[in-house]
Amino acid sequence: MFKRLKSDIRCVFDRDPAARNTFEVLTTYPGLHALLWYRFAHWFWNLGWKWLARFISGLARWLTGIEIHPAAKIGERFFIDHGMGVVIGETAEIGDDCTLYHGVTLGGTSWQKGKRHPTLGNGVVVGAGAKVLGPIEIADDARVGSNAVVLKAVAQGETVVGIPGRVVKQQKDDAEVRRAKMAEKIGFDAYGVSQEAQDPIEKAIYSLLDHIQVQDEKLERLANSLSEMGGVSIDMDMPGLDDVVLEPSDPEQAAHLKKKNSEPKPE
Ligand SMILES: CC(C)(COP(=O)(O)OP(=O)(O)OC[C@H]1O[C@@H](n2cnc3c(N)ncnc32)[C@H](O)[C@@H]1OP(=O)(O)O)[C@@H](O)C(=O)NCCC(=O)NCCS
Repeated sequence: MFKRLKSDIRCVFDRDPAARNTFEVLTTYPGLHALLWYRFAHWFWNLGWKWLARFISGLARWLTGIEIHPAAKIGERFFIDHGMGVVIGETAEIGDDCTLYHGVTLGGTSWQKGKRHPTLGNGVVVGAGAKVLGPIEIADDARVGSNAVVLKAVAQGETVVGIPGRVVKQQKDDAEVRRAKMAEKIGFDAYGVSQEAQDPIEKAIYSLLDHIQVQDEKLERLANSLSEMGGVSIDMDMPGLDDVVLEPSDPEQAAHLKKKNSEPKPE
């Protein structure tokens, strides 16, 4: 239980640059309070103490402005920023690492019993004021723009905006995802230039690393095509990104990089 509480608090730092310390988060974040009340109410709901569960969620709504039905299913590291006006219906399901902003509704479109609320995958972000309605699936890493009204399923990694929700961004292809991973790992943004990088040498090195990553991928594709055409098979076995430890040998630079990587990233 305490492990979960800790991860619920830690995720606030990851997703809100304004969060300063644990005491502040514990005492001033209604989204966190609502989540804690929900976990309590959900526990009673599962024990069959349904009135008490609903009473607790009603109390939480009164205190936080956030209404979460105790029967809803919510994963780890869920964060509601600002909170006021959020409604999460009885049969809604939310995966891990999801973020909702104020005014979001995960609602139903019918009065039929049974599954009538949305299912959110992992890492989904729903912008302020958005309404996601019906038993639809919003797949992993999808993003819903603020004030959108989404009535149809959203595929993995897609961004939807507007009324009715329309897709404005498709899922990134594998290469893009790997580049982003590499960029994140060594602390620079896509296209080789970190937002905070002031030093031109630092910028140049980052650009080179980005370039090498793209070259690696091109070479690998070339080698694969060659062997498919019957040529010699070239061993392109290189250490995976997770096996490479990219740490500068200069301890000062290593400390700087470590500090930069540990800083919470803005939305
Ligand atoms: C939807 C969102 C995630 C898109 O981010 P993104 O992937 O970087 O997309 P872009 O900003 O490049 O926008 C893509 C297109 O969608 C449009 N768009 C973005 N957000 C929109 C929104 N909420 N409603 C309508 N159109 C929107 C952009 O104008 C752009 O259109 P264009 O291609 O015709 O110029 C982001 O705009 C958003 O709404 N985030 C929610 C943030 C929030 O609620 N914050 C509250 C903090 S208190």
